Amino acid sequence: MSFEEKIDKARLPRHVAIIMDGNGRWALKQGKNRTFGHQNGVEAVRQTSEAAAELGIKYLTLYAFSTENWNRPKYEIDALMKLLVKTIDQETPTLNKNKISLSAIGNLKSLPEESYNRLMKAIEDTSGNDRMTLNLALSYSARWEITEAMKQISKEVKEGKTDPENIDQDLICKHLSTRNMPDPELLIRTSGEYRISNYLLWQIAYTELYFTKVLWPDFRKEDLYKAIVDYQCRERRFGKISEQLNKC
Ligand code: IPE
Ligand code: IPE
Ligand code: MG
Repeated sequence: MSFEEKIDKARLPRHVAIIMDGNGRWALKQGKNRTFGHQNGVEAVRQTSEAAAELGIKYLTLYAFSTENWNRPKYEIDALMKLLVKTIDQETPTLNKNKISLSAIGNLKSLPEESYNRLMKAIEDTSGNDRMTLNLALSYSARWEITEAMKQISKEVKEGKTDPENIDQDLICKHLSTRNMPDPELLIRTSGEYRISNYLLWQIAYTELYFTKVLWPDFRKEDLYKAIVDYQCRERRFGKISEQLNKC
């Protein structure tokens, strides 16, 4: 039985988040430069998005560039930004064909103007699609996002629009960039690193974490199916004890 056949379609995660890691090591292992790894990561994005949409997953959030990644060498940042624009342009027709809408979270205004404009255009051009949302985390970090939410809430308090007594988890969620989507049930990190690297810190409070040694450019549909099967074998207790869960 393949991993795909083992998936229970009735218990799919609605939202899967991925830390796409290992592009550089994948390239260096072959004696190539890091940019070659990023270029080859595009096929993994394509396959993963397609597999997720085919399964019926509603939201796929991919960590493409972190706030901290701005500290990388300039040539690598430039190559990544170029690749972003090229990929967005190339993939928009396929996204439309597969009825996938594109969205993005992060400090998007910090992207080069060209990348920002093309990204906004692709978001607009795919906005009518409702099969799945492909959400790119770009110039994103969770601490940046939470800080922005705090600033916004403080402003509303100052203007008398929000009573500090009414600040609760729900209000905070509404000020995060993921306000229109459920929290991810499953987070996958590739490349054998066991850390979160400033990703969705608020949203992953009860997310199931899945780590694989596969380097991102090698990640294929089968790897996504494997992660989902693993997720479906877990008992999500949310603080309760096993006997309290409504088992069917
Ligand atoms: C992930 O791969 C892609 C980005 C962070 C943009 P890396 O570039 O981090 O690859 P490794 O971790 O150095 O192998
Ligand atoms: C996390 O990967 C960010 C992205 C995948 C975009 P990094 O490779 O930047 O993370 P660290 O530096 O190893 O924690
Ligand atoms: Mg890395």
